[in-house]
Amino acid sequence: MIKLPGLIDPHVHLREPGATHKEDFDSGTSAALAGGFTIVLAMPNTKPPIFDAATLDLALNAARQKARCDFGQYIGAGPDNADIAASLSGTAAGLKMYLDSTFGELRLDDMTLWQPHFEKYPKTLPLVAHSESRTMAAAILFAAIYDRPVHIAHISLKEEVLLIKAAKEKGIKVTCEVCPHHLFLSKDDIPVISHGHPGRGEVRPRLSTKEDVAALWQHMDVIDCFATDHAPHTIEEKDSDNPPPGFPGLETALPLLLTAVDDGRLTMDDIFVRMYTNPKNIFNLPEQPETWVEVDENETYEIKAAEQFTRCNWTPFEGWKVKGRVKKVVLRGKTAFEDGKVLAEAGYGRNVRG
Ligand code: NCD
Ligand code: ZN
Repeated sequence: MIKLPGLIDPHVHLREPGATHKEDFDSGTSAALAGGFTIVLAMPNTKPPIFDAATLDLALNAARQKARCDFGQYIGAGPDNADIAASLSGTAAGLKMYLDSTFGELRLDDMTLWQPHFEKYPKTLPLVAHSESRTMAAAILFAAIYDRPVHIAHISLKEEVLLIKAAKEKGIKVTCEVCPHHLFLSKDDIPVISHGHPGRGEVRPRLSTKEDVAALWQHMDVIDCFATDHAPHTIEEKDSDNPPPGFPGLETALPLLLTAVDDGRLTMDDIFVRMYTNPKNIFNLPEQPETWVEVDENETYEIKAAEQFTRCNWTPFEGWKVKGRVKKVVLRGKTAFEDGKVLAEAGYGRNVRG
């Protein structure tokens, strides 16, 4: 049995308000506990999007009633809410900027709309950018110009990891995360995970080439965090004519990464640093006293969507054999998950910015 600290996922979509048939704070935080996470930071591309005091309250009230692990809620950068977002920074997990197209309505194309956010959001708190390829280069330039930290969400390309490495060497305050699906899948796997439904391979950023995947592994030292980008959409939606992009990931991240440790591709310390120490520091998160995760590193099992807590009912890793199972999660002195059962009550979770 190995003991890990309560893991932190700085990038999840829990779909509340507005799409609780996909997930809500109850099912999403249950999935988090089953995956060994005790803090999740929820993204603002909900319906309505979280962009002011009233919408932030909507999400936080739902979370207070339903969350079973600790949580934070991002506020989204809109065309004219830079002052409001900065004024809410004490209760929000951070500011999320959508600079490339994806699921939801929050997107800022014009760089004049980026400037007030880079200027005004407190420099001690995270500004997270969904920015791919050349847009990512622009976001890093903004971080340099405004002399503030920026965290690049879900990098997936060789050119991205190489540019972040170079930017870090110049002392620019940039950090980044990688999702397990961009480490364990390439676009060559799309036919296999699709099972005849091409929508199941849709995710933003898209699955990349084998060369990109190899570059991410090769430059593991540049990668600050592992984040799931848990983006549940139901199997019916994924298999429809207009499939939304996104993969669930909360319950598969740790077992996949532990399997990579067993294969000698990662160390336990790589996991510890990227799922606890770095996210705790980058996102300025509180200590969770008497909190830990017990993992049986020798238990082998097959990933099955039917056994997961997420409401979306599918996983791109269906049938994968993994080694390492979460047995127990203790959160603030209370057993929150044990032997496949979530024991923490709805409402036990606290706002990390509370
Ligand atoms: C996310 C979603 O479904 O909300 N989808 C995705 O493919 N990652 C949006 C996002 O994180 O870009
Ligand atoms: Zn996301």
